[in-house]
Amino acid sequence: MSSESDGALAEVAAQIAKLEELVRVLLSGARKDLSPSFERIDIRPILLKEIPHYQMLSNDGRQTITKNYLPGELKIDELLQQGYANILVEHLAGSIAIQFTKKDKVIVHRDIGINTPELTHDRVKERLLKSSDPFLIEVGISDSNGIVKPSRQDKYKQVEEFLRLLWPTLNSAIDAGHIEKPSQERPLKIVDLGSGSAYLTFAAHQFLTSKNIPIQVVGIDNRSEFREKNSEIAKKLGISKTIQFKVETISDTTETSADVAIALHACDTATDDAIAWAVKSKAKLLLIAPCCHHDLQSQIKDSPEPWSLLTKHGLIKERLSDLLTDALRAQILKLLGYRVEVIEFIGGEHTPRNLMIRAVLTGVKSDATEAKKYRELVAMWKVSPSLSKKLAAEMEYSSDK
Ligand SMILES: C[S@@+](CC[C@H](N)C(=O)[O-])C[C@H]1O[C@@H](n2cnc3c(N)ncnc32)[C@H](O)[C@@H]1O
Repeated sequence: MSSESDGALAEVAAQIAKLEELVRVLLSGARKDLSPSFERIDIRPILLKEIPHYQMLSNDGRQTITKNYLPGELKIDELLQQGYANILVEHLAGSIAIQFTKKDKVIVHRDIGINTPELTHDRVKERLLKSSDPFLIEVGISDSNGIVKPSRQDKYKQVEEFLRLLWPTLNSAIDAGHIEKPSQERPLKIVDLGSGSAYLTFAAHQFLTSKNIPIQVVGIDNRSEFREKNSEIAKKLGISKTIQFKVETISDTTETSADVAIALHACDTATDDAIAWAVKSKAKLLLIAPCCHHDLQSQIKDSPEPWSLLTKHGLIKERLSDLLTDALRAQILKLLGYRVEVIEFIGGEHTPRNLMIRAVLTGVKSDATEAKKYRELVAMWKVSPSLSKKLAAEMEYSSDK
């Protein structure tokens, strides 16, 4: 190796060793006749339990391995000697880039400028649920060091978004007296209908527990493998007394009450089963993120004109039916005394199923024009939503009053 490349590598090694000044390191490509272990390595500083670490993400073209190192543990020289063709080190006051050409000639480029570390202490603090929460490790969203796995970032974001929606809505429902203030004697009861792998069920449990809210959580799913797996996790975490899982279908559940009913991406009319159960059980707060919709799509045969311009295109008809289904669900809840909002659950880039119906039981009766609008819309489209059939008695009673 030439003394020029030796000098440049020693310079970047010294810079990487100053963890407190480091912003990021990128190693990629292979030098002539050399075969480094990975296609690309990214290194950045992070805080783990307030202690600065190096986080190294090594990608071999198929998968990324994440490892964290304390200062002194990272073998910087060994890494740099492996033969990466491109080495970039950004630090607080600038950057150094080393490039080895195809003929193994070294080019060094230095820049002066202000860089800011990507993952500052403050950003770690902004999270509602620490990535090191034992449940996130148990369900495989975080690795054993408490770092979110690159492949599970979307799920972690979904968990965070869900808690960001739950927390203020719950607080204002409690403040307004719509939900009784939880106590040890009367914990807040949350029922998750179609809980599946229970990421969000556990998240709600862990987050509210961290806020000292006494809770009782039940997850319902008709697939027995979920109960086994989730109950095992609950046992491991020592929370089996406050979170339980049942193998039941939503429409036949043995649960009879809830303060908060959750149904996130329960398939097709299972969402209607969940809403109907929540209404009949007088649940005070509903957080419903619908999944696929088939009910109205198959019912829409001849659309009122000039809407055939939309329904003649399969894809547009499908989307229109989804919107119609959810608008009618929201209106039914409104007619039954809920204050309803339809909001974005999580940005469309994470999942196309990104709509949430958030409803709080206030008992305020909607005026007759709202019922009229509902009747006119279903008559116009000649549809009979699954939810209206499940709540026929309740809807009849409300329109009688
Ligand atoms: C797409 S997964 C969503 C899981 C979880 N809520 C989430 O958002 O991560 C839908 C779950 O609902 C369950 N499910 C669908 N229909 C159901 C029904 N009628 N009764 C009980 N569970 C049902 C499925 O078994 C599945 O686990």
